[in-house]
Amino acid sequence: MAKIQKIAILTSGGDSPGMNAAIRAVVRKALFENIKVMGVLRGYEGLIKDEFISLNSKSVGNIIQRGGTILKTARSERFLTPEGRVIAYENLSKNKCDALVVIGGDGTFKGARIFSEEHNIPIVGIPGTIDNDLYGTDMTIGFDTALNTVIDAVDKIRDTAASHERIFFVEVMGRDAGFIALRSGIACGAEAVLVPEVQTNLKDLHNHLTNCMSKKKTSSIILVAEGDDAGGAFSIKKEMEKYGGEFDMKVTVLGHIQRGGPPSAYDRYIATKLGVAAVVSLLDDQRSIMVGMLHRKVVNVPFNQTIKHHKHIDQELLDMVDILNT
Ligand code: F6P
Repeated sequence: MAKIQKIAILTSGGDSPGMNAAIRAVVRKALFENIKVMGVLRGYEGLIKDEFISLNSKSVGNIIQRGGTILKTARSERFLTPEGRVIAYENLSKNKCDALVVIGGDGTFKGARIFSEEHNIPIVGIPGTIDNDLYGTDMTIGFDTALNTVIDAVDKIRDTAASHERIFFVEVMGRDAGFIALRSGIACGAEAVLVPEVQTNLKDLHNHLTNCMSKKKTSSIILVAEGDDAGGAFSIKKEMEKYGGEFDMKVTVLGHIQRGGPPSAYDRYIATKLGVAAVVSLLDDQRSIMVGMLHRKVVNVPFNQTIKHHKHIDQELLDMVDILNT
């Protein structure tokens, strides 16, 4: 295969802290290998709108510590159509890009797989999403920072919950996965964690909280994943009120604060490693793969695996939450 001369890079889907560190690593490693780099603004939509910018070493200076993405991101309805992808490919060719690096989640990789098959272009994905719901990598870029944001917020909520002897339902992101809720629930000692992967029994939860109250545990924190089957935190609180009891219940929805802030050291580290690995994989003629980190080692995972398989939630961790809160 002809040596790659120029790479295009884009960020797609929900942004996550560490994306900039990954962009920086891709650009600097590529330039070191005498490969030019063009940034594409606003994800796949920017491919279609021909929003390409040249990137050099200076372009990615002083961004490793910044949340968000200097390339901006967006979701693209047009890229879901073959016609949209033809325009995207034509723009890649017009800008003389012969490979593509995409930073995003499973939706990003679904599009990349089809695009690569249709137009025979080498594409490597870097897992950038706070949800950590991607098969084939222990941690996605942004997950660790989001966890730290959640526990910082929950620690503050716990202060006022204790003062007023209240129960707080704290809703966290994760789209349809419970990894943020579970890992941050453990880290901040939540009295219960409700995740979409496990059916929620509100009567049991009510009994659990009544039991806590009888042991003079007069305030509790319940972490609720936004995709939980019992609905979001507000609907759960409403249902719980039907069971009666003396509970003073409140809801806090953390929302998009989980998507911002300076990336943690760990997120900067994995973003940098995976950014470099993405260029190395392209130089090794790899295509339609995601670079991931499994047991601290970089791995190449075919898109069709990371899309097809589902990352399972760890039941042992869920049990641990219950054990440590009896
Ligand atoms: O996929 C990342 C994510 O933050 C999810 O956790 C969340 O449900 C979704 O994006 C929110 O999407 P948007 O920012 O488009 O509202």
